[in-house]
Amino acid sequence: MSPFSTSAPGVRQAAFRFRCIACGTLNDSASQDFRCANCGDLLEITYPRWKEASPDPAKLKSTWRNRRLSSEPIDQSGVWRFRDLLPALESDEQAITLGEGNTPLYELPQCARITGVPRLFAKHQGLNPTGSFKDAGMTVAATFARLAGFRWVACASTGNTSASMAAYAARGGMRSLVLVPDGKISWSKLSQALDYGAVTCQLRTDFDGCLRLLQQLVLRAPVYQLNSINPFRLEGQKTLALELLEQLDWQPPDHIIVPGGNLGNSSAIGKALGEMHGLGLISRLPKLSVIQAEGANALVRTLREAGGQRLISVQAETRATAVRIGNPASWKKAVKVLEATSGACEQVTEIEIAQAKAEIGAEGIGCEPASAVTLAGLKKLLKQGFVKPEESVILVLTGNLLKDPDFTLGFHRGDLFRGTPDESASARLDPLRRPPIVLDATLDAVIRTLEQAEKS
Ligand code: F0G
Repeated sequence: MSPFSTSAPGVRQAAFRFRCIACGTLNDSASQDFRCANCGDLLEITYPRWKEASPDPAKLKSTWRNRRLSSEPIDQSGVWRFRDLLPALESDEQAITLGEGNTPLYELPQCARITGVPRLFAKHQGLNPTGSFKDAGMTVAATFARLAGFRWVACASTGNTSASMAAYAARGGMRSLVLVPDGKISWSKLSQALDYGAVTCQLRTDFDGCLRLLQQLVLRAPVYQLNSINPFRLEGQKTLALELLEQLDWQPPDHIIVPGGNLGNSSAIGKALGEMHGLGLISRLPKLSVIQAEGANALVRTLREAGGQRLISVQAETRATAVRIGNPASWKKAVKVLEATSGACEQVTEIEIAQAKAEIGAEGIGCEPASAVTLAGLKKLLKQGFVKPEESVILVLTGNLLKDPDFTLGFHRGDLFRGTPDESASARLDPLRRPPIVLDATLDAVIRTLEQAEKS
């Protein structure tokens, strides 16, 4: 029996199958690298039973609502609460959960005024247990890693995946191996992986180099791959969209905007939207748009220069280190999602990212730089007329403000762009900066500062 068989112990028989996204080959097992045995492309999980007996949408909605009242750990998870649309477990106790999901949907009144879109909201995935959206996928994929009998799990990461994987592996009694680009991820993400007990390797390469190496490693060593190539990850991440639509009382918004890096998240949200529409949970599809940093714009270029037909990889460079990815693994899935939902793909500059991040911070919400590309992208999509001011917009904030304190401090102190070509242009962000003020410890000095601040 393959370690990735759908008939592994603990997995409910015939509940799901693997399907190749390119040639459509269906299979009950997957190899270590989660690639199609026939053509080598990526796999996705499908649920043949839905065709025979489609779940009743009204019943699903009430089941999910009722589970919120339960004190069972599996029901308190904002991911497993939606388990009717996930690969099924034989018993609820098998789930490795930290109570992920259940993230708030915030209104953004100040950003709404800035952009001129009154119905603007943020789904804050940075309020997950390890501070990023990765937890929603990790609870499912780590659970299936343990069911398949693996002792070791591994990932390549720009920081958040590794933090999340290390936590879920630790909770599930597994060891974890992390491959990160040396010096190119934030210290706070690195420190999470260390604290959760991962074996952490800082490789002298970039994220794309780490991922290449991981894909070779899983073919040689008995480690389970937990990057978003792993289709179980995307099933868990799907629940972001389910929870969002539930929060909106199943009334689809006009637009959902997400950051794009390795493109797993956009693929997962798109899959969820398609499934919800197919099952009759929602009456129409929101447009899902993907925003990239200009210096890591592989999907933008792939669409503009190759019509989405072949990947144009780039040498990625951006201060939004979470999306410093030049060779996105799930690009084909993302292209399909953009086509299916009629979404757009845009890029934003480093200055636009820093500005949007400060504007989200000033709402009392905050996020990490990669998440702020969504607000910066919205401004562009509005200018282009793709988003209309009267439409409703959800920004997916993927990571917590505390994930990258260096960026935030650098911005407010005024040294983020020092010595870079953006230095003079960044002066226009000065009104948004709130640098720390060093004073003598006297009442007078503090009162004077207060009075000055009141005038500004
Ligand atoms: N936002 C944050 C905060 C991220 O950490 C990532 C990806 C993305 C957006 C992009 O999502 O890759 O699904 O398109 N971080 C990965 C990591 C690659 O290793 O933590 P994506």
